[in-house]
Amino acid sequence: MQLEQTPSETMAELILDEELDKQDPLRHLMDLDGGLVEAPVSSTQALTFLPKQSHSVEDGGMLRLSFSHDLIDVPRPLEITLAVDASPGCGGIAWPAGQILATYLIQQGSGYLKNKNVVELGAGTGLVGLVAGQLPDAKVWITDQEPLLPIMHKNVTINNLTSNVLVAKLDWGVPVPSTIPKPEIILAADCVYFEPAFPLLVQTLDELADKDTEILFCYKKRRKADKRFFGILKKKFRWEEVMDDPNRPIYNKEAITLMRLFKR
Ligand SMILES: C[S@@+](CC[C@H](N)C(=O)[O-])C[C@H]1O[C@@H](n2cnc3c(N)ncnc32)[C@H](O)[C@@H]1O
Repeated sequence: MQLEQTPSETMAELILDEELDKQDPLRHLMDLDGGLVEAPVSSTQALTFLPKQSHSVEDGGMLRLSFSHDLIDVPRPLEITLAVDASPGCGGIAWPAGQILATYLIQQGSGYLKNKNVVELGAGTGLVGLVAGQLPDAKVWITDQEPLLPIMHKNVTINNLTSNVLVAKLDWGVPVPSTIPKPEIILAADCVYFEPAFPLLVQTLDELADKDTEILFCYKKRRKADKRFFGILKKKFRWEEVMDDPNRPIYNKEAITLMRLFKR
């Protein structure tokens, strides 16, 4: 049986969390040996909890992901070959939230992204944007910080998506480069994990979005202090949980939530 926490216990945990975060802001992504937690290349469990998905790891850090679906005008199954490499940082591996968001995009059907500008923030390997780029007539920009750009370029090329998936540097909190158009859809997976970046991410969302922009935001809860992010977010956005995803009960168990954000 789970014991209820008193408010003072919760506050004490929050304070301790923050003290540890000051010493190591990325500790929630690390395991006890200092490696990345949930690193999917070496762990089969992280990539297989969703049905209709399979993966295999090939030599040289290549991951092959296969998404089965019933769409007639999208390759069946939809396959992505992903170069993964933890050396440029946590974005260099494929996180479960990204796979959940990618799977949801496919479920939305082949008309969902038609003729839409789609911008992915904190794309890492680019998995979500690469899947978006295989849906008919989507125009996709996958964005991240400088160190991730080579692996994103590599993944776009490997998957023959150079004509409709573009790679761009986009640091949260700095003005969005003019080469990135105003998107109709913004995608973000597992981008809440580093407290100093919380206001920067909200600033970039605010700059990119207007009242008609659809924002799909897949969030993995790692610590109590994450609520600070939502405290900042709520000044500019409201949100609701995506309820029509049949995989929701599975990933909710992993403390992952898929949300739609709307600009106030
Ligand atoms: C946990 S990874 C998730 C990667 C990918 N979305 C996925 O689901 O596999 C978080 C990503 O956010 C990016 N990121 C962190 N801070 C950023 C910032 N200030 N500006 C742009 N991207 C940032 C990281 O480089 C990394 O790729």
